[in-house]
Amino acid sequence: MTENRLDQAGEAQLYRALRRFWHPVLWADELGDRPIAARLLDEPLVLVRLDGEVRAFRDLCVHRGTALSLGWVEDGCLVCPYHGWTYDDAGVCTRIPASHGTNIPNKARIHPFAAAEHAGLVWVCLDAGAGAEAPAAGFPLPAFPEWRDDGYRLIKIPQYDWHCSAARRVENFVDFSHFAWVHEGILGDRSNPEIPDHDVVRTDSTLWFRLGIQEPANDLKGDHGSNGGGRIQREPSHYTLTMPFTVRLDQPLPDGKHFVLFVASCPVSAKETRNFTWNARNYDLDPSRDQSFVDFQQLILEQDRVVVESQRPEELPIDLSEELHIKGVDRVSIDYRRWLAEIAASERSAVSPELEPG
Ligand code: FES
Ligand SMILES: [Fe+2]
Repeated sequence: MTENRLDQAGEAQLYRALRRFWHPVLWADELGDRPIAARLLDEPLVLVRLDGEVRAFRDLCVHRGTALSLGWVEDGCLVCPYHGWTYDDAGVCTRIPASHGTNIPNKARIHPFAAAEHAGLVWVCLDAGAGAEAPAAGFPLPAFPEWRDDGYRLIKIPQYDWHCSAARRVENFVDFSHFAWVHEGILGDRSNPEIPDHDVVRTDSTLWFRLGIQEPANDLKGDHGSNGGGRIQREPSHYTLTMPFTVRLDQPLPDGKHFVLFVASCPVSAKETRNFTWNARNYDLDPSRDQSFVDFQQLILEQDRVVVESQRPEELPIDLSEELHIKGVDRVSIDYRRWLAEIAASERSAVSPELEPG
């Protein structure tokens, strides 16, 4: 077995292990009275609100394999569009309209997944184990205190899909040394590319770190009167990376202002990532300012997308010997990859057959 095969096996193992974690799949306010299709870890899902509660099922009617996301909700149940089989909130079929009587086969049930509404998003865990309320024991839904804080104005950055693994996308968000190169004049400056020392602290479910960078002056961060010139030394930003794919960035600005990003990434497949971003601020609260904040994020994201989608392999190598790391500068990436490798190792299943040497 070559080293490369071993690494691929590790990433395949990680991919399977991800089924035990919560992942965001949809903006919660987009789930109204119609079912909606989503995809998580290659699993087609139907998301639906039954009696107000968010539910997730495999998007497949057990009668003839029709996508239930084409159906509708009636009396707190999900109705298949093909022959009208009707499923209750546990996924049990309660009605087969073409059949006389009440003789519904026991097997007439669709597969339910753990679903939760949190921070304005719908989260799903494909393999919740015994307790549907506690998937991936020890890895709770990511904290986002600004979500319920009236002092903050929250705006959605339109969701975006990147052709990369979710881990590549997350690593890009917590990579500091690219600011001067990919975002020169916006987040960094090539004449000042060094990254200050920073500690990375691991808790039960998060990596957190603080970093104070120098940024080009920015009107959106209250640097008025700077005429677009000069660099500003920021107070340390506080990053919290909740494993595996959510990052909250809290950047303190002068006078008690905070600029916050909550970026939750969904592993749609091994090489496709859907990203949900909240931008929160406790200043400049006038809604007429919102579009400027969206435009700012979209400018940065487009610069990142081009670089991240070019990375090969698309999956993040979790074996540290696969890419080169610079001590100090790449500290976060190193700790993140190590933890992902631990999660992969915790997956008991054997290496998938297609990755075995032939
Ligand atoms: S395929 Fe769904 S009811 Fe027949
Ligand atoms: Fe970036």
